[in-house]
Amino acid sequence: MTTTENARTLTGEEFVAELDGENRAALERLGQLSAAGDAPETLTVERLLQVALKNELEAAEVAALWMGTTTELDVKLAFARQVGDEAKHYRLISERLARLGADASRIDPREGGYSPLFEYLRALQSTTARVAAGQFTREAVALVRNQAFIEFCESRGDLETAALYREQIQPDERHHHELGRVLLARYGVTADEQSVARQAAARTLELAEEIQEMARLKAGISRAPGC
Ligand SMILES: [Fe+2]
Ligand SMILES: [Fe+2]
Repeated sequence: MTTTENARTLTGEEFVAELDGENRAALERLGQLSAAGDAPETLTVERLLQVALKNELEAAEVAALWMGTTTELDVKLAFARQVGDEAKHYRLISERLARLGADASRIDPREGGYSPLFEYLRALQSTTARVAAGQFTREAVALVRNQAFIEFCESRGDLETAALYREQIQPDERHHHELGRVLLARYGVTADEQSVARQAAARTLELAEEIQEMARLKAGISRAPGC
């Protein structure tokens, strides 16, 4: 950073554009990791949809926790909308699993505990950090992962699951990410807020990558959808 850049705080819009650029490299790497190698034969759409249930539950729950402890009304309502959308995704995925022959009512995605990303996000206190990590960044991760999952579904001939993601789930995740963009530009206007937001976004990407690598190494799971 040059001295001139240090001399003034970025506007909210400038800050979001900068963070978008910083996130892009990590998101591209995540996308490549998601689609890397040949998917093992044992990896099925059904198995990945079960992973998706856990991600949707965690996304809904963290937004619900934040809703109660966020004072800014527009952000509180953005979290409320996200809670509803992620719960709807959970239901749509359960219904799809049922059509694939699985008994979704017997699946409890809380088995095995919540993810380290969930634990990290739920502890965030600053509104700007929550918006940067939970909406702007995590939802961008979801978009990238869901795209890799859509391609996997198509490669296995499951056009119905691909369509569910492309037509119903992805537009919501894009909306959550865009809400994050607007709110971050509105509240990320001081050097302190920007620094907190930048750290939260970076940590979110790190955790997302660690969790993905762990799932691949331990269970051969790649191409899992996000939230
Ligand atoms: Fe989402
Ligand atoms: Fe979702």
